[in-house]
Amino acid sequence: MWQNLKTHHAQVADRRFETMLDASRAAAFSAQAGDLRLDYAKTNIDATSRALLIDLLEQTGVAGKRDAMFAGAAINETEGRAVLHTALRNLDGGPVLVDGVDVMPEVLETLARMERFAANVRDGRFTGQGGRITDVVNIGIGGSDLGPAMATLALAPYHDGPRCHFVSNVDPADIAGVLRVCDPATTLVIVASKTFTTIETMTNARTALAWMGESVDSPAAQFAALSTAADKTADFGIDPGRVFGFADWVGGRYSMWGPIGLSLMIAIGPDAFRAFLRGAQSMDVHFKAAKWDENLPALLALVGIWHNQVCGHATRAVLPYDNNLSRLPAYLQQLEMESNGKGVSMDGAPLQVHSGPVVWGEPGTNGQHAFYQLIHQGTRVVPCEFLVAARGHEDELHHQHQLLVANCLAQSEALMRGRTLQEARSKVADTFSGDELDRQARHRVFPGNRPSITIAYPQLTPFTLGQIVALYEHRVFVEGVVLGINSYDQWGVELGKELATALQPVIEGQDGTAGKDGSTAALVGYLQAHGV
Ligand code: F6P
Repeated sequence: MWQNLKTHHAQVADRRFETMLDASRAAAFSAQAGDLRLDYAKTNIDATSRALLIDLLEQTGVAGKRDAMFAGAAINETEGRAVLHTALRNLDGGPVLVDGVDVMPEVLETLARMERFAANVRDGRFTGQGGRITDVVNIGIGGSDLGPAMATLALAPYHDGPRCHFVSNVDPADIAGVLRVCDPATTLVIVASKTFTTIETMTNARTALAWMGESVDSPAAQFAALSTAADKTADFGIDPGRVFGFADWVGGRYSMWGPIGLSLMIAIGPDAFRAFLRGAQSMDVHFKAAKWDENLPALLALVGIWHNQVCGHATRAVLPYDNNLSRLPAYLQQLEMESNGKGVSMDGAPLQVHSGPVVWGEPGTNGQHAFYQLIHQGTRVVPCEFLVAARGHEDELHHQHQLLVANCLAQSEALMRGRTLQEARSKVADTFSGDELDRQARHRVFPGNRPSITIAYPQLTPFTLGQIVALYEHRVFVEGVVLGINSYDQWGVELGKELATALQPVIEGQDGTAGKDGSTAALVGYLQAHGV
């Protein structure tokens, strides 16, 4: 399946794609869905590569599997579950059946309950012991944190509800720092955990309950829970009226469209939250209907596969020139790496090609003054993904936004063009001569021919953010199907959790280090000697 692509790649690997980049290529290697424009013309993909990549989609049955996912089939085969985060934003799309039962009435009823609760918190009908809620503390980790935390920051211009804080780490520094700035009498704590067993979240939830209990008579009355485990939320003492449930067919890292998005809904309001859902729904509709060469999630996946599995570039940088998207790279790390960071295919056989890439990044222009040196002149190629809005939200500072946009476009141009030795020599010819001129010039050479894509949009609104996140979700789906991976389990996080549980009594001094390897035993000894 991969051979044709590898043969083709070997034939074109050394050409400079800049030489192909006229206006017709710019049009042919870009696509639009709703507000989003994807430009992948600054890559080495040509019509032949694209056709061969699209063959992968046909050979691996992406269309059939996509339709099966939307229809509620149990495509998460290792856990025997449907994958239906799309149902959470299926606001007017008709029934969705799981085992013959339409799940939409319950989804919409839960959304309506969330909206009533969020409105009550926002307008002061739901209060703490001290009156109107001023602060919301979302306690969760992984998908129960990264989605709402990323989106709340991204939609800061729409944030007109109480302050929102996100606590995730079991490191007490995290929760201590947040509780220090909150008044327990006017704080709402939201415990967000699909399973309601995650050790970090449950530890932080108990810490928050104790903190609130020091000054509030009924602390549990200022707690809400977002979980699939109603029995466990009841054991914790949270009234079912403030428990927002969802089904096991919502994966943790795909869950912010439903109850896990409650803190975001309280921050921006139910109407803006619905706009966020509608943006995602519009991407769902596009993904289901658009031809592959116009289909943004499919094209994004094919670009990713070309760079990772075909060209062999092991990492992918996500570079939002949109400061409000500062947590998008962290969010995408979980979405992409927890979904497609796997070494066996669905049937248990080893993968024939590498798993998904390492995803990393920071907003521009900050990254330019940190790691772009390596992106431009390092010996390994890092495919870059730029995101940029035509307009910010600070109208009075629009000229500053224009500078931001100029920087974004300049970086993709610089990556592509590079700078030859001759150009570098002429840059420093006034300052140096002879051998020194040559030596100095070599430090100023940029190899260029480095690929990037750009996702552009008018402005980062709730609707646009919904489109962007759903675009990446479906990209992960397509990449997973082509690689033969189950993108919806996460067995790779289990071993560390088990060993941490076993190590806790050792750290506390109740058990010895017998049976531990020499390094771990020595580190335990060192940390105990220093007061752990
Ligand atoms: O350990 C990984 C993981 O299971 C993620 O997949 C999930 O998003 C996170 O932990 C939190 O899980 P929960 O929402 O059940 O607390």
